[in-house]
Order: sequence, then structure tokens, then C-alpha cells
Amino acid sequence: MKDSHGRTIDYLRISLTDRCNFRCIYCMPADGVCALAHEDILRIEEIEQIVRVAASHGIRSVRLTGGEPLVRKGVVELVDSITSMPGIENVSLTTNGVLLPGMAGELSRAGLHRVNISLDTLDPQQFRDITRTGRLEDTLAGIDAALEAGFDPVKVNAVTVRRLDQDFLKFAKLSCDRPLHVRFIEYMPLGDSSESGIGWGKEDVIPSEELLETINARAVESGMEPLRPAGSKPVGWGPARYYEFPGAMGTVGFISPLSRHFCSECNRLRLTADGKIRPCLFSDEEFDMRAAVREEGPEGIERVLFEALGAKPDDHHDKVGTERSMNKIGG
Ligand code: GTP
Ligand code: 5AD
Ligand code: SF4
Repeated sequence: MKDSHGRTIDYLRISLTDRCNFRCIYCMPADGVCALAHEDILRIEEIEQIVRVAASHGIRSVRLTGGEPLVRKGVVELVDSITSMPGIENVSLTTNGVLLPGMAGELSRAGLHRVNISLDTLDPQQFRDITRTGRLEDTLAGIDAALEAGFDPVKVNAVTVRRLDQDFLKFAKLSCDRPLHVRFIEYMPLGDSSESGIGWGKEDVIPSEELLETINARAVESGMEPLRPAGSKPVGWGPARYYEFPGAMGTVGFISPLSRHFCSECNRLRLTADGKIRPCLFSDEEFDMRAAVREEGPEGIERVLFEALGAKPDDHHDKVGTERSMNKIGG
């Protein structure tokens, strides 16, 4: 599938639920979300139908997100069915990791290729402050479980926020002794996480270039060699740019949605848990796939897919959406 700006679209991100076992301050309101009603959420069979049609038009990579995708009933069966669909080459999951110790084995047996685990800090108290309900040791156990289950690559996503004063060198060093790919993501002031919600704003964005310099300065101070561009990058369909410490088993990536727009390389569509296709993370424009799948079947799915494809903007031009918070989009 090509969009109207000539970009090949081969990556579909599917949010399976807006619910989560955490309440990250930049993602959800403290009292949780006014959860979507059961009938508003796409059924597992409906998601399968959509992926089948999308794959027949060139979608090759599927990422399951949330909220927290592992709290959704039927996730293992969904992985099992989409990994065996013709055309689908890679199926991955973005998770906070808490449920991985109990589920990594069955997800791997169902054919899941890889996982990205969200973790913003290695400090237990700061972890609690950010997630409101989570425990650092649970997410660390999730990372261990992902490596043990043999997912490859295993990536760790850290949202970087200036006022949090995270220890970035300590974090980057997670890539040294195990095959972990740490990625630092520029915080995106979106939905509830913006000024209107918790009060974080543009001044909290740490541009990736600055972060790279900070990490390298600290590395050199502590007697390490600095990061250098990675010889090879881990498998992925996303926009990260990768570096590595000499001799490290993993890499350190940077995702820079604000300081370096990667829109010209955008390869994706998003499907929200309530069945809307969202052509751009930052735009509130959406297309009703749920009505199409329920009322029209495969032709309707195809029609909405191409309508959304035609509506992909060339760039987000610093505009950010306001209607939905991250847990309702899936990152
Ligand atoms: P792989 O590289 O294939 O592993 O996946 P990914 O990096 O696309 O997926 P992941 O779910 O780990 O996302 C990492 C971060 O990149 C999240 O914070 C996303 O919100 C952000 N991101 C992913 N896609 C986009 C996009 O299209 N636009 C913007 N602005 N940010 C994105
Ligand atoms: N800015 C940047 N990244 C975010 N994520 C959630 N909210 C934001 C935000 N406002 C990240 C999560 C997860 C990924 C899917 O998106 O931490 O790693
Ligand atoms: Fe849950 Fe991820 Fe949102 Fe945190 S960022 S509340 S782990 S969906």
C-alpha cells in the first residue's frame, strides 16, 4: 500500500484495550480511565478479519499495544492466528512487562516474534511515582522472562522527561551485559499528559541530540568509551536511530518525534481498541473501522483502510492531538 505522499505503509499498530494495570502519569488520569464499554471494543475475531484484509494489501508487521495488551482476554489466541496469516512477517508487542513472567512462554509458542517493554526509570521510588501503582521489580522480572523465552530482539522503551531527572547513563548501560536494546523516547505532550493535564509541557522534552551528548559526557567521566553508531540495528519497523557502546551486547536507540520529525519515513496505520483507524498519532482524524467490519465485512474493511491511507498527512507540523490520551491510542 502506498499513501498519497508515496510512502509504503506496511506496519499496523493495534491497541487491544484502553485498560492497564498501571496508571502512568503521562498516559492516564489517576483514577483510571472511563473504560470503553465492552460492545465498543473490537472482538478478537473482528481484529483477525481486519488484519487478514490489511495483510492482503501489504501489511507485513503488526504490533499489539494497549493500554496494556496482556490484560486483554484472547491475546494469545490472537497472536497465534495473526502470526500464521499469509503476508504477515513479524508480530510484536509493547507491554509494561508485569504479566510476562506468566505469559512469555505461551506467547512465544503462539509465534510472537518480539517484545518492547516500557520502563522509564531504574529507581524504585521514581518507578512508583511514574506508574502510580507499579513495582520496579515486576517490570524487571518481565524483562528477564522475555529474554528467557527467547524473544529477539528485546527492547526497553524509556520516555525521557526533563523534570524527572532520570539517570540516563545507568539506563543506557542495561545494553552492555545482556542483549537489550534501550530506546530513549522524547516525551510527547499529548492528550492528558499535556499542560491541561499534569502540567508537563514542551520544556520537558529532552532533544535526542542533547541526551546523546549528556550520556557520552557521563560515560567518558566514568572511564567508558562513548556511544558510536551501531554496526547493525535490531529488527524493527519503527523510527529509532541506534548507537552502541563498544563491546556491548545490545544497543541504545533514540526516538525523536519532536526534534527530528520522521514523518517522511512513516510506514504505519493505527487501529484503536474501539475500532477507529488513526492515520497519524498526532492527528485526531479517525476512520470508523468498527462499523465497517460489523456492517459490511471484507469490502467495508478494504474501503476504510484505503480512506485512512489517503488521509495520512505528510507531516504532523508540530500539531498534537488532544482528544485521546496515549492509553487510548497505543503509542
Ligand atoms: P519497532 O522499532 O518495530 O520495535 O517498534 P516501534 O519503536 O515503532 O514501537 P514502540 O511501540 O516500542 O514505540 C516506541 C515509541 O515510538 C512510542 O513512544 C511510540 O509512541 C513512538 N512512536 C511509534 N510510532 C510513532 C509515530 O508514528 N509517530 C510518533 N510521533 N511516535 C511514534
Ligand atoms: N510521550 C512519549 N511516549 C509515550 N508513551 C506513552 N505516552 C507517551 C508520551 N506522552 C510510550 C510508552 C510506551 C510506548 C508505546 O509509548 O512508554 O513505551
Ligand atoms: Fe499502562 Fe503503558 Fe499507559 Fe503506563 S504508558 S499506563 S504502562 S498503557
